[in-house]
Amino acid sequence: MKKNIQQIGSIKVIQFLFKLYKVSPIGVLGMVISQLSFAILTTTIAPIFISKLMTQIARGDATLNNSVGLLIGYIIALFFGDIVAVRITLALAYIVESKMQALTLEKIMENQTAKSFNFHSNHMSGGIVSDTNKLIGSIERFWDSLMFTATPIIGAVLSVTIALSFIYWQYAIVLFVLALIITILIIRFQTSIAPISKKVSIRSSAQTAYFADVISNIATVKAFSNEKYELKSYKNKIDDWKTATLKEMRSVLVITGGFGLMLTIMNISAFLAAILATQYKIANIGTIYLVINYTLSVVIQLWTISSITRSYIRIIGDASPMITMLNEPIDLLDPKNPQKVQINRGGIKLENIVFGHEQNKLLFNKLNLVIKPGEKIGLIGHSGSGKTTLTRLLLRFIDIKSGRILIDNQDITSITQHDLRSKIAYVPQEPVLFHRSIRENITYGELDANLDTIQAIAKMASAHDFITALPKGYDTLVGERGVKLSGGQRQRIAIARAMLKNVPILILDEATSSLDSESENLIQKALWKLMENKTAIVVAHRLSTIQRMDRIIVMENGQIIEEGSHKELIHKNGVYTKLWSHQSGDFLKD
Ligand SMILES: Nc1ncnc2c1ncn2[C@@H]1O[C@H](COP(=O)(O)OP(=O)(O)OP(=O)(O)O)[C@@H](O)[C@H]1O
Ligand SMILES: [Mg+2]
Repeated sequence: MKKNIQQIGSIKVIQFLFKLYKVSPIGVLGMVISQLSFAILTTTIAPIFISKLMTQIARGDATLNNSVGLLIGYIIALFFGDIVAVRITLALAYIVESKMQALTLEKIMENQTAKSFNFHSNHMSGGIVSDTNKLIGSIERFWDSLMFTATPIIGAVLSVTIALSFIYWQYAIVLFVLALIITILIIRFQTSIAPISKKVSIRSSAQTAYFADVISNIATVKAFSNEKYELKSYKNKIDDWKTATLKEMRSVLVITGGFGLMLTIMNISAFLAAILATQYKIANIGTIYLVINYTLSVVIQLWTISSITRSYIRIIGDASPMITMLNEPIDLLDPKNPQKVQINRGGIKLENIVFGHEQNKLLFNKLNLVIKPGEKIGLIGHSGSGKTTLTRLLLRFIDIKSGRILIDNQDITSITQHDLRSKIAYVPQEPVLFHRSIRENITYGELDANLDTIQAIAKMASAHDFITALPKGYDTLVGERGVKLSGGQRQRIAIARAMLKNVPILILDEATSSLDSESENLIQKALWKLMENKTAIVVAHRLSTIQRMDRIIVMENGQIIEEGSHKELIHKNGVYTKLWSHQSGDFLKD
């Protein structure tokens, strides 16, 4: 059963790679034609001239006069076959393959950005990058080997057999059947190694992903002086990969060894046929030359198949993880017939929602919550109580298991994800920025905003001053994930980005947690202005942040355990009262 699944995988991989011909059918046809002419001219036509020349020489009637035509024919066959045809294929290969690669890259980007948040929580970005690179590399290798090796082999074997059948048909049949058997055997063996190659590829991606993870956590590695530990763990990953590679090598050696044996038999059979032909005076020296030459050509071509075996199975192994990802259905889809979005007031209703990150562990079990249009909600609760998860469910980053989420009476699964998210401005808990300019990071909220608007918004988000103090101002690049900015600066950029998006619902997940009290006060004012006429959900650990909200919701293990205004809750003598009194400085202790 297991073997079966992997076999289907290999065929699917080949199908995927092969179907890329659609990118440029004419280009591919051009390559096939030029490679077939190359094979026919060099392996079949050119030896005919030589054989004629040899017969003349053997007969002793070869003179410069009657032989020059044969020589010129030979040279032309070689020239057009080798130099011209191969150059044409080469040029076409560059054009066609880069087109195929470009299209695939676009497809991968489209597919990866369409994948759900959940998918990306479970996949390492380094692994995805590595799988992408490997697929792109294998497209080139697949088409190169198909055009430069497989096509000439087919051309050579067929044309040689046809030519031979005119001079020695019994031998032509034997040669053709042998070549066919060998080819079938190669294909069978190739598919048997494919699963091992896939393992090699998966392990190679795993080591790349580990490497990328270490580099992106370099500050933590250094702070804990764990360089040696990381190296050791990384070595284990490399060893896993190496072990799989060696296993692959053993299989390759066995297969190519057996293969060499078969080719030797073919070689010897050519000489035996030649000896028999002269013994029984069936043929002259020229014909015998042709028979041996043709056999050697076929043997060499078939030997090439064996030498590309390794690269071929690697191609399958390398291409398979990303193609598998491309073939996997997207786990979070837009409805087939989406409704027109009607979100404009921002009233939110959670009806009996059931959700758990893990299969058998529920975080929300029939949670109900109604938020009136324009209501400002403060969401608090201990770490892990489900606040961030709740905001992600509202954005439909993940789907609930049962129940409904309605916004302005519209089920969020009945509209497109794009329409839903175009109505919500969101500042995530840990805003990471693109390695682009500050200006581009802010305009991400409204792609065609002009500089005046950006600056006005940045001022509101108390970001303008620090931005203008940077060497390149709004054009400063922020470093990967925004590492060149402080946590508070990153948050202010993320807030400005959300402010720029003028929409009915605002979700801030700890948006001000990294700010000092002074900056927070300034931003609070701006945020209050921003929240006017909007529905807002503000998650905070710092209770002062949400004190003025219309309603404060206290969560515990995915349940709402208290709700009301600050004034109401403070007198309730419940969890909120306790949290409030526990706040030393301004922070909630967990
Ligand atoms: N992608 C995930 N896969 C599995 N479990 C998750 C995932 N994200 C969150 N969880 C779990 O769900 C629970 C709720 O997490 P959530 O991030 O919603 O808490 P939170 O209230 O926002 O906490 P904090 O105050 O620390 O931000 C936690 O137990 C967490 O471990
Ligand atoms: Mg959180």
